[in-house]
Formats: sequence, C-alpha cells, structure tokens
Amino acid sequence: MAEDTQFKAWQVSEQDGEFRGEEVTRKVADLPEHDVLIKVHYSSLNYKDALSASGNRAVTREYPHTPGIDAFGDVVSSADDRIKVGQHVIVTGYDLGMNTDGGFGEYIRVPAAWCVPMPDGWDGLKAMTYGTAGLTAGLCVSKILMAGAKPEQGKVAVTGATGAVGSVCVELLAGLGFDVVAISGKADQQSLLNELGAQEVVGRETLTPGNRPLLKPAYANAIDTVGGAPLAELLKQIQPGGSVACCGLVAGAQLETTVLPFILRGVNLLGVDSVEIPLEDKVAVWEMLSGEWACPVTEQHRRTIGRAELAGSLSSFLKGESVGKVVLDHSL
Ligand SMILES: NC(=O)c1ccc[n+]([C@@H]2O[C@H](COP(=O)([O-])OP(=O)(O)OC[C@H]3O[C@@H](n4cnc5c(N)ncnc54)[C@H](OP(=O)(O)O)[C@@H]3O)[C@@H](O)[C@H]2O)c1
Repeated sequence: MAEDTQFKAWQVSEQDGEFRGEEVTRKVADLPEHDVLIKVHYSSLNYKDALSASGNRAVTREYPHTPGIDAFGDVVSSADDRIKVGQHVIVTGYDLGMNTDGGFGEYIRVPAAWCVPMPDGWDGLKAMTYGTAGLTAGLCVSKILMAGAKPEQGKVAVTGATGAVGSVCVELLAGLGFDVVAISGKADQQSLLNELGAQEVVGRETLTPGNRPLLKPAYANAIDTVGGAPLAELLKQIQPGGSVACCGLVAGAQLETTVLPFILRGVNLLGVDSVEIPLEDKVAVWEMLSGEWACPVTEQHRRTIGRAELAGSLSSFLKGESVGKVVLDHSL
C-alpha cells in the first residue's frame, strides 16, 4: 500500500492546556515503523482510552495522539512470516494506543509480536465486544480458578460490576456456576446485572472505609476492578483461604490495608495484567472467549458507536457512568 494513502483517525491534541479529540485525516506514512500494517475495522472503548484522551501523561506522553488500546482488522502488509497479508488479527495492549497510534484510527502499524490471529469462526465485532476488558475479565477469572476458587465455597463478589471489565466478570463467573454478588454504584442497573447472572446486587456503600482490620467474612472469593479503599474493605470480608484478583484503579491506586487478612485468614491478593503478558497467554484467553466462555448477554447489550460519538462515550468512563461494552465501528 502506498505510504501516501490517507485515512481517518480520531486524534487528541492539546490546545491551551485543554485536551480535545477530533476526526482528522492522516497518512499511512505518519504511522510508526513496524512490521505489520493493519486496516482497522473495530476498536473497543476502555478506561485507559479515556485517560489517554484526557491528557493523562502516565498513559500518553506526547500529543497529538490517536488513542485506542484495542483493534481488530485485516493485515494489509507484513514484513514478518508469522503474520500474512489478508489475515484477520486482534491487537490489544502492549503500547497500542498509549504511545503508539491506536485503534481509533482506520490504520495501525505494529510489531508482529503484538498480533493475535483471529480464533476460527469468530468475527471482529464479537472480538471487540470483549476487547481488553474481556481479556482482563478472562485473566481475572483464570487467576482465581488457578488459586482454587470453586462455586461450592460460597459467594464471589465483583466490584465495578457494571463496568467494561466488571460486567464480563459477572457473566463469566455466573456461567461457571458461581453465586455472584455484583457490587455497583448504579442502583438503576440491577436488572442488567441480574441478566448477566448476578444472584445479588449490593451498593458500593458496602465497601465504605472503616477502622476495623477484619470484618465478618461475606465472600469466598472476589474480583476487584476498582482498587483503592473499596479493595481494602473487600479484603477484610474474604473467607479464610479465599482469593481476590485485582486489576483496576478507578477508585484509587493507593491500597491501605493491614496484613491481617493475609496472615490471619490466608487471603490471596492476585494481581492481573493484560497488557504486557506473553502473547500466548492472551491467545489462550481469546480462544476461551470465542468458545466456551462466550458471554451472550454482554454481546447482546454491546453498544456500537462511530468516531463522532467517541468524545461523549469516553467522558462517561471518567465519570464512572459507563455501562457494559462499547465498540467503535469505523464504518459508521
Ligand atoms: N490490569 C489490566 O491489565 C487492566 C485491563 C483493563 C482495565 N484495567 C483497569 O480496570 C479498571 C476498570 O476498567 P473498565 O474499562 O472496566 O472501566 P469502566 O467501564 O469505567 O468500569 C469501572 C466501573 O467501576 C465503578 N466505579 C467507577 N468509579 C468508581 C469509584 N470512584 N469508586 C468505586 N467504583 C467506581 C463503576 O461501576 P459501578 O457503577 O457498577 O460500581 C464503573 O463502571 C480501570 O482502572 C482500568 O484501568 C486494568
């Protein structure tokens, strides 16, 4: 493909200290020099995209920048034998959308080592319905299962339950037979959470910070997507020997806890990273999501938007108002 080929991208730039995204026309030649050029059909919206779009320098150092940590598309050219022209690929994480032009543009150019071949019989819209959030949910579930979590041990809690990661966690765990308690700040989303499979929905106030180092155990295991003070409270409510997978920081990056849940109850705190893990670990979760871990309710409630709606949808992530999965369709 000619390097002067033009394409549309949603680009964030800094103007007088304010960050603003808008549709621009870019050239393939402007993309970074990597081995695989991909025509992007779909991307997926994530909290990290909202941080990048709002000028968070811990995510994106330099602007103007095209965010989008997820992409699905067709390979247009490849200088690496592992990835063939015409192949359908998923790219999530690594540096995509952070300091490498991301999936909010119609083309990306990335290292071959970032490309996951599309699982057989799947389609791009479905893949991006999960995106990084679904991959992370799958990794969180895998972590607690590997630590020995079983449905018969008792309830499993999910925080940030209506969010992109949390909602997939609820549906995955319910599908595996767990009795899921969805912890959410959105009382009006009870019916969606029940439809996803939550047996119980409780308010965020159940994790209001208190002074007691331990509380009556309420959950056998948990997946936490919010971090901060709610995670510290959750750890106090886990049964002896239980596990908590932790992946997010929307409620804060600081974790103030005592060692008591760990040394008196043997609670396991399991960190989850979906970004820099080896490609084969990502492939394993994508295979599950495209097969026996498929989440039909998540797929049914997916919202699909065009580039013109990105600004509004991203700002709802920062306000904690986003619900479920939002896919960017470049054809809209
Ligand atoms: N480790 C990794 O590899 C990885 C990968 C993906 C995402 N993440 C992180 O996981 C987190 C969730 O991502 P996401 O894409 O699911 O975001 P999201 O869609 O915005 O979901 C976050 C949810 O958390 C709840 N929430 C928001 N603000 C809160 C607050 N101040 N206190 C308590 N709860 C709050 C809300 O759910 P309710 O209203 O239902 O409570 C919100 O919908 C983010 O921090 C993201 O950076 C990490």
